[in-house]
Amino acid sequence: MSATTFTIAALAGDGIGPEVMREALKVLRAAEARFGLHLTITEAPVGWAGIDAAGDALPATTLELCRKSDAILFGSVGLPDRDPTIPKEKRPERAALLRLRKEFSLFANLRPVRLPKELSHACPLRPERQGGGLDLLVVRELTGGLYFGQPKKTEDIPGGQRSVDTMVYTSAEVERIAHVAFRTARLRRKKVTSIDKANVLENGILWREVVTRVGREYPEVTLEHMFVDNAAMQLVLKPTQFDVVLCENLFGDILSDEAAALGGSLGMLPSASLGNTTGDRTFGLYEPAGGTAPDIAGKDLANPIAQILSAGLLLRHSLRHDDAALAIEAAVQRVIGQGLRTGDIFNPAEPAARRVGTREMGDAIAAAV
Ligand code: IPM
Ligand code: MG
Repeated sequence: MSATTFTIAALAGDGIGPEVMREALKVLRAAEARFGLHLTITEAPVGWAGIDAAGDALPATTLELCRKSDAILFGSVGLPDRDPTIPKEKRPERAALLRLRKEFSLFANLRPVRLPKELSHACPLRPERQGGGLDLLVVRELTGGLYFGQPKKTEDIPGGQRSVDTMVYTSAEVERIAHVAFRTARLRRKKVTSIDKANVLENGILWREVVTRVGREYPEVTLEHMFVDNAAMQLVLKPTQFDVVLCENLFGDILSDEAAALGGSLGMLPSASLGNTTGDRTFGLYEPAGGTAPDIAGKDLANPIAQILSAGLLLRHSLRHDDAALAIEAAVQRVIGQGLRTGDIFNPAEPAARRVGTREMGDAIAAAV
């Protein structure tokens, strides 16, 4: 029998973070009650909220809480217009989010994109390009590549400045993320499309070689390679060809936003960032892919579904309660089926649609769980 007692660090962060987190916690509590779990959920500041509370985007007490927890449910951080004078290393994106990813070696980022057929109207593609609804998974390498490679700096040179970012991958880093992609594909439609720029980048050549080698260990999975520029185009021309899309860090960042738009809205895209599994423990950070959306923050307009589905992924991957994760996914599906729509997925032409706020959407999903 699997464990039922867990500790979760809930870091809501900035912008819409707190209001969508509130709804996700409601839904988690509903799942807790239904599946007989015992969740200790502790909230702590991060991002600008961390800077305001303790002078640090990732306060020491918050990091300590994360270390003691089974998983982190993360909101979003970063407010582009706040205090441009703060040094870039202290800004929340780097000092909190990237630091957490690195600190816990969360190298595997899973971003499942689904376009339910009810939300066909919210997809920017014509219906004939959507198949019967879309379902693909971006597997993004999260602790390597241009985000973290050294040197990384800007320096003065005669007549101007010069900045360097470094794209580095070791074969071991490519291998471990490739295994994640193939293992996941085995449980899905058994196809991996590996993205690279092997026609130009050394990194791309290594990436392709290593992924091909790892792929031989998964003969039941079809492997296809695609250049990143072509992939960006194929995603809008024929998204139904994709099952698992395997990307390095920056390519995955870009393509996952593009894929999210196909799923109806960035407000629907959850993510799981996972480290190594030791025994039956997989530590992970779970966050919506969408960001802080400061323009709509505090107005009860944000779509809480990405945060709620992230809580579902937390139940699945770190708490190993697939039953509870499925219940949350089914509840979201049901509420969408009933026609509840936040602004980002609302279309007045849809006959049964009813526009609701963040809170009402959360309440409905919690009730459906
Ligand atoms: C994401 C975000 C982050 C990233 C930013 C906020 C640093 O865009 O999770 O996709 O680039 O990884
Ligand atoms: Mg991004």
